[in-house]
Formats: sequence, structure tokens, C-alpha cells
Amino acid sequence: MTAVATFYTMYKRRPVGKHHIGVCTNTLCALLGGDAVYDAIAEHLGVGHNEPTADGEFFLERIECQAACTHAPVMTVDWEFMDDVTPTTAVDVLDRLERGEEVWSTRGPRIRNFDATERTLAFASDDLATEGNSVDAKMLAGLTVAAELGMSAPAIPAPSIPAPSSPAQEN
Ligand code: FES
Repeated sequence: MTAVATFYTMYKRRPVGKHHIGVCTNTLCALLGGDAVYDAIAEHLGVGHNEPTADGEFFLERIECQAACTHAPVMTVDWEFMDDVTPTTAVDVLDRLERGEEVWSTRGPRIRNFDATERTLAFASDDLATEGNSVDAKMLAGLTVAAELGMSAPAIPAPSIPAPSSPAQEN
């Protein structure tokens, strides 16, 4: 159990408050404003990397690439995506959460809280897989262009598996 909890960074071994806020500052997000988003949130909350707010409402973390670069810069709230954020829109999300307003991921479900997300990661389905938008035209752009150009991936050859030899032949 300890090995799993320490390997997967989505699990936390200490309380992180009601909402975990992740800001991707890897290369593409940083180039497109991720550092500015992180700085605005850090200043707004008065905390730094891996720190909770005094009221336990938020926990801020610089996170690695979420494979969501299509919509960089990306921030996550309780591991749900907030795409194409700016310093202003990112802080607005925090303000709305603080006021108890309903907030939706830009491509996923309604934001619940970190505890609920952690339960989903560890246990059974939460039935939220179809809630909210999951894929948009920007994410499918490469596939769309490939289809328009009649491109396709080469077939994967079947592996050749040698037939087992019988014990009689081996002697
Ligand atoms: S660099 Fe931020 S999601 Fe990939």
C-alpha cells in the first residue's frame, strides 16, 4: 500500500484541504502562461508549492504535464481539468469555489472535492465518466486532418510465436 501511495503522485499522504489545485508548469503550459497562472494563484491564496491555505480550503501544487497540452495552460481542481486558463480565469474558479458556487470542469464533471476524487481513484466507479464534455474538436484536430488526407496507420504485424517442441524431439 505504501509503495502505491508513494509512487502515484495523485495520492496524498497528508491532508490537502477541501480542494487540490494543480497548475501545470511544464514546458508547453509554461510557454503559454502556466507560470503566470501559478503565480496569480499563489499570490491570491498566499501559499506556495505543496502548501495548504490556513482555512484548509485549498492546497496548491505545481504539477507535471497532464498530457493535456492541447489546451495549455492547464490547471486541475481535484484532478479535473480546467483548460486554457489565464491568471484571471484561474482565480475566478477559486473565488467561485470559495463562494460555494457550482463549478464544472471544462472537459469533465462538476467539481466535487478532493476527498471524493481520491475515493474515485482508489475504489469503484463514481458514474461521472459521461458527465460534462470529454473531447472537443481541438483534441481531434490531428485525427480529422489525417482522415481528410486519407492517412492511416500501418497494420501491426501479428507476432510470430514459435511452435513448442515436443519432449520427444528434445531428446
Ligand atoms: S505541458 Fe502542461 S499539460 Fe502538457
